[in-house]
Amino acid sequence: MFEVVDHEKLTHKVHRLRISAPHVARKAQPGQFVILILDEKGERVPFTISDWDRQAGTVDFVFLEVGRTTERMARLQKGDTLAHFVGPLGKPAEIDKFGHVVCVVSGYGLAGMVPIIKRLKEKGNRITTIMQAADNESLYNQEALKQFSDHLLIGVGGAGGGPATALKPLEDMLKNLDHEPMDRITAMASICLMRFIAEATRNMGIKTTVHMAPVMVDGTGMCGACRLAHADGTQFACVHGPEFDAHKIKAWDTLMARRCTYADDSIMQPGFKCDNCSQW
Ligand SMILES: Cc1cc2nc3c(=O)[nH]c(=O)nc-3n(C[C@H](O)[C@H](O)[C@H](O)COP(=O)(O)OP(=O)(O)OC[C@H]3O[C@@H](n4cnc5c(N)ncnc54)[C@H](O)[C@@H]3O)c2cc1C
Ligand code: FES
Repeated sequence: MFEVVDHEKLTHKVHRLRISAPHVARKAQPGQFVILILDEKGERVPFTISDWDRQAGTVDFVFLEVGRTTERMARLQKGDTLAHFVGPLGKPAEIDKFGHVVCVVSGYGLAGMVPIIKRLKEKGNRITTIMQAADNESLYNQEALKQFSDHLLIGVGGAGGGPATALKPLEDMLKNLDHEPMDRITAMASICLMRFIAEATRNMGIKTTVHMAPVMVDGTGMCGACRLAHADGTQFACVHGPEFDAHKIKAWDTLMARRCTYADDSIMQPGFKCDNCSQW
């Protein structure tokens, strides 16, 4: 059993859990995730590790209340236990000295990207972070993102309240490359926003990576649930990712349709309507 050491509500329907899991804390790297099962009748649900303390043996992640399991998790209290907590899973994010790195985050990416940004900063990169949220109430974690970013841009609401709010600052930066070159873009955001970013940078020669979150079941590459059509052949997000070269991902439409098979209006950003993909 894995004890809940702390539970903090960060904003409306967003929570941070700290779990006692020394075996995961010992090996966790930026960009990796865990799969937990609440109790013996529970589903397997994956979450990105947002922090860890190797000495204390604890692992943090932030979750959004979107469905049955996460709604139950919102009621967990300090001292409660989880039946299973497996990890760290997936490949760590690619970290090196790239130069100027632009990080685009929304949803749980506001927390999940923090260890990556921190490590990129430690490597000597200059970091511009673009946060996107539907409204001010949905913003959280600014302080942590600010701490490791040289420049923090916030896109809230805007036309339709959709991905355009994060895309606009990025598009402005892409027009200004002569003055401020960009060496890499990495995004942990809604699949829709990540697709827009991939298209915006496709012909610009800027390496762009995206952190994919397709529906997962076993998390070990065996079940095939998280498969992605990729330029190098079929890839499984749980073992080959979750970070991928955005320009090598094929069939975004299929991916979005599969990812959203179980989605309903409750997880969509208020007022957001996109006509260009199969997600909405
Ligand atoms: C690698 C990875 C990392 C993730 N990291 C985070 C995170 O840090 N914080 C966070 O809030 N969410 C994260 N998610 C998404 C999270 O797993 C789902 O929101 C969660 O499983 C929903 O469970 P539910 O029962 O509450 O909702 P459901 O009612 O089951 O579904 C609601 C939505 O969640 C999606 N979903 C359901 N089950 C899964 C699953 N097993 N895998 C992926 N998506 C699913 C559905 O497509 C649907 O859009 C991550 C997903 C993956 C694959
Ligand atoms: S979750 Fe089963 S192959 Fe990735």
